[in-house]
This record gives sequence, C-alpha cells and structure tokens, in this order.
Amino acid sequence: MIEQVSALIREAATEVVLPMFRRLSAADVTEKAPGEVVTVADQRTEEVLSAGLTALLPGSVVVGEEGVAADPALLARLRGSDPVWVVDPIDGTANYAAGRTPFAIMVALVRGGTTVAGWIHDPVGDSLTVAEAGSGAYVDGVRMRISADPPPPGGLRGPIMTRFFPPGVREAFRERASVLGEVLPGVHCAGREYADLVAGVQHFAVFWRTLPWDHVAGSFLVREAGGVACRLDGSPYEASGEGSGLVAAASEQIWHEVREVLRTAGV
Ligand code: IPD
Ligand code: CA
Ligand code: CA
Repeated sequence: MIEQVSALIREAATEVVLPMFRRLSAADVTEKAPGEVVTVADQRTEEVLSAGLTALLPGSVVVGEEGVAADPALLARLRGSDPVWVVDPIDGTANYAAGRTPFAIMVALVRGGTTVAGWIHDPVGDSLTVAEAGSGAYVDGVRMRISADPPPPGGLRGPIMTRFFPPGVREAFRERASVLGEVLPGVHCAGREYADLVAGVQHFAVFWRTLPWDHVAGSFLVREAGGVACRLDGSPYEASGEGSGLVAAASEQIWHEVREVLRTAGV
C-alpha cells in the first residue's frame, strides 16, 4: 500500500502538477475566499488522487481540500467508520499559482479516527517523506530520527504562522517568541515545514488554523520520526479533532518551551 500510494502521488505530480506549473492562465486561478486562491491544477490533482486512492482501498472515502470546498458535509466522513484518505492536492497553492516554490502534495490514511500512514511529496525536488504507523518516517528511503539532543537555550529554529492567530495574541506572541531563537515567518507550505522538522532542519512549527489536509500527514510524520505534534492542551493532533492551535516540535522539551511562550502571550 505504501509503495502504491507513493507511485500514485508521483504520477499525479508528473502528469498534472508539474506540467501546469508556471503555465497557468489567469482563468486557471480563482479565489475560493478572500485571499485564498485555487487553481485548475489543485482540482485536477485531487480528482486523479481520489480516483486512484479509492481504487486502491475499496470502501474508503476521500476528504480532500477541494472536495470539502465544494461540499462541506464531506468533513463528517472523518468521524465515520470507513477508512478515510485525507488529501491536500497542492499545499502551498499561493506559491504554486505565483510560479514559486515550495509546494507539496499531502496524503494521509485515517482508520477509526487514527492516522495510520502519511505522505508528503515535493514535486520539484522529487522528494517523498513517508511513514506507516509504528514503522518510523523515511525520506526517499532513508530512516529519519529527529535528534533528542536539545539545542542550547535560545538556539531553536522554526516557523510561527501567525496569519490566523487571534489579533491580541499575534502581537504578544511576536514580542516574546524571540526567546526561543530563530523565529521564521514560514514558507506558505505546511508540507515543507513538516518535512523540514522530520529532516532536522528546524525544531518546531506553530500553527493556529488546523485544517485536516494541512496537518494530518505532517503531524503523523513528525511523531513517527520521534517528535511531538500536539494541540495546546497536550493531546496529539488527530484528523477528527476540533479547535485551534497546534505545536509540532522535535522533542517534548521543545514542545513545552514553545507552549510556554504561547501561554505568556495569552493562550
Ligand atoms: C496553506 C499552507 C500554509 C498554511 C495555510 C494553508 P494551501 O495551504 O499550508 O502553509 O499556513 O494555513 O492554507 O491552501 O496552500 O493548501
Ligand atoms: Ca494546505
Ligand atoms: Ca491545498
């Protein structure tokens, strides 16, 4: 199953995502909501992935970003008994539509409310981060283990996506966050943030909006690599949960350091 899904994702990348990259016309890009663009490539990629994934696992259903945009009732499938494929056909659409990188394809398989496999593919770098429950995370076949060695105080590095933070918290958090170390603005592609955590390139990532297609695969991959991905109450992030706020971190200690800064900012 892991290999078949990996092949399907790579096929969607080479057949749809890459051929349309930097070749979109103005009519190919529309706004779903103010400031939220979608392209014909997002929609076509989700169609291709949905057909392939449900064929691989009869009885499964797809909860994809574009499917839910068309029919929000689909979200309820996350709490049903059928296996669910959570799909973000293009993560980083704003980058993709502007002809920039990074962007990613993300897929996760959820059974009984628990994530059991996850994939993040970088089509341009042709890199695939993948994990199956209990088997660890792999980048292009190489096992990833996030280092347990804590960096020195103030030596952390990671992005904080403040765009959807409540206004008062956003400012308070920005003022305090520098105690952690190098705080990055983010690259507008959650998939890249998670892949960089798995690869040890950064130590944490903070998100406020926690839509399933943005976070199910990545938070699962971080956990399988030995890291932590929890909501602000300390419970593991899962597809069927609700609420705001998610901290992914290389270790429990780092998770608590970041959580403490959020607390002092008022959440
Ligand atoms: C977006 C990206 C971005 C995150 C936004 C998402 P999209 O996904 O993952 O990093 O901060 O919240 O909406 O819309 O490009 O698939
Ligand atoms: Ca996304
Ligand atoms: Ca998307």
